[in-house]
Order: sequence, then C-alpha cells, then structure tokens
Amino acid sequence: MGIVSQYDLKVLTDPVEEHIPFSVRNMAVAYHKKPVLEDITFTVPEGKLIGILGPNGAGKSTLIKAALGLVPTISGEVKIYGKSYKEQRKRIGYVPQRESVDWDFPTNALDVVMMGRYGRLGWFKRPGKKEKEIALDCLRKVGMGDFYNRQISQLSGGQQQRVFLARALAQDADIYFMDEPFAGVDALTEKAIIALLSDLKEQGKTVLVVHHDLATVEEYFDHVMLLNGKLIASGPTDTTFTSELLQKTYGGRIAMIGQSAPTGNGR
Ligand SMILES: Nc1ncnc2c1ncn2[C@@H]1O[C@H](COP(=O)(O)OP(=O)(O)OP(=O)(O)O)[C@@H](O)[C@H]1O
Ligand SMILES: [Mg+2]
Repeated sequence: MGIVSQYDLKVLTDPVEEHIPFSVRNMAVAYHKKPVLEDITFTVPEGKLIGILGPNGAGKSTLIKAALGLVPTISGEVKIYGKSYKEQRKRIGYVPQRESVDWDFPTNALDVVMMGRYGRLGWFKRPGKKEKEIALDCLRKVGMGDFYNRQISQLSGGQQQRVFLARALAQDADIYFMDEPFAGVDALTEKAIIALLSDLKEQGKTVLVVHHDLATVEEYFDHVMLLNGKLIASGPTDTTFTSELLQKTYGGRIAMIGQSAPTGNGR
C-alpha cells in the first residue's frame, strides 16, 4: 500500500462529520411501493439523549431499521460518525421494538446479552470468562442478575425488555438506537433505565429513544425529532417540543392525549 497523504486522510473522513453521530440526507423508504418515509434530512448532536416522537405508523421504527440497513431505502444517505453503517457496526447498539423479536428462540438471558459482545469478540473467538462477567454485570445493571439462566421465552415482557437493554449496554457502543425501551416496563424500572441512559450520555455516548409518553419528554430528552411520514422538526427540546409542532405531528389526535400535551415553549 502506498503512503497516505494528509490530503487523502482528510478526504476519507471529514473531521467535522466525525463528530456528528448520526446524519441522514434525503432518505425515502417504501414497503411494497407504498411510501412510508419521504425526504428525511437531519443530523443529531453528539452526547445527547434524543427522543424520536410521532404517532403509531409514523415511521419511527422504519427510520431506525433503514438507518441500520435492516430495511432497504429508495434513496438517501445515512452516516454514522461520518461513515456508512457497515463501517461503524461495532459502534452501534440497537434495542429493537419488543414485538419484532422472536422470544421463543431457545436461548437464555445471559446468552442474549453475550450476543451483544460478538461484535467486539469477532465471530471466531468463543466468549470466555471475562466476556461472561461483563454480560452478567450488564444484567445486574438492569436488575436482571438473578435471571441470567432463564430462557427468554419464560420471562415477563418487562423482563425481556430489560435483557435487551443489557445486551445493548454490553455492546459498549458509541451510539444507541432504542425502539420503545420503556414499553411494558413499570415506573420504577423506567426511572432506573433512564438513569442508565443518562450515564451513557455522561460518557459522551449518543442515545436515540423512540418514545410515546409526551408527559416525560421534557424531563428525559435534550433533543427531539418529530416524525410523521416526513420529518416535522428536529432540534433542542426547548424549542422543538411545542404545542404547535406537536399538533403538526399528531394532528387532531393530540386532543386525545389531553394533559400529556405541553402548553408550549413558554414554560
Ligand atoms: N414490513 C412491513 N411491510 C409493510 N408495511 C410495513 C412494514 N413495517 C411497517 N410497515 C408500515 O409502515 C408504516 C410505518 O411503520 P413503523 O413500524 O415504522 O411505524 P412506527 O412509527 O414505529 O409505529 P409504532 O409507534 O406503532 O411502533 C406503517 O404504516 C406500517 O403499517
Ligand atoms: Mg415502532
């Protein structure tokens, strides 16, 4: 291989892009030719907790799946820290929406978490004692240490959710995509999870969370993305989580949410 000049290095990774954990340009996605996401363009800031909000069917899960190469895009460019998803695989943690996981898969909680470590280990190395210890530690962090040996099919919904969170923690990623991590978990567990996510943020990691409870948005998130087929808005919670923009995102349905809806940004 020849000598790589300064110039080449600059071309390989733009130094500015390196600090943008996630950027999407002109993304469009369709299922069976029916458009689901159109003209999606945004960047998210590094080291923040970011809420992805929008009604059922808005395309929140699709946005994450398309960004991670799990569903095809019609057009658009996705960058994770300035490079393609494939190049950054090891830096990405993903917690899928609960319903999309096959919970009958015959495996125990510890093995699920250990799978999160494979990216680090490489496929040919078998997990050793140290890997097991890390996985156990992550299970303990989500209060699931006692269940390490339990088949995942024999856990409650909230417990399954916590195992998946432990798996994401075990990945030691730089950017996390979590699709409704609070669905089906009790209030205390939700607080424990948000504390864990805040810890990740303190470590400089970027955490994107699909979230439905508008009442906790201002407490949890630094930045929000409002989605409904198109990107309605993306920006700091203070200026973006406003009744006007929520109305645009949820339409008439916002009335049903009642007291959960914020009164506007004149807080
Ligand atoms: N595999 C699929 N095949 C066909 N259509 C799909 C598929 N997955 C999702 N859709 C459709 O695409 C749209 C967006 O779905 P998506 O799951 O991204 O929504 P969401 O915002 O995550 O909703 P929710 O809040 O209910 O999880 C919906 O209309 C849905 O019916
Ligand atoms: Mg979804």
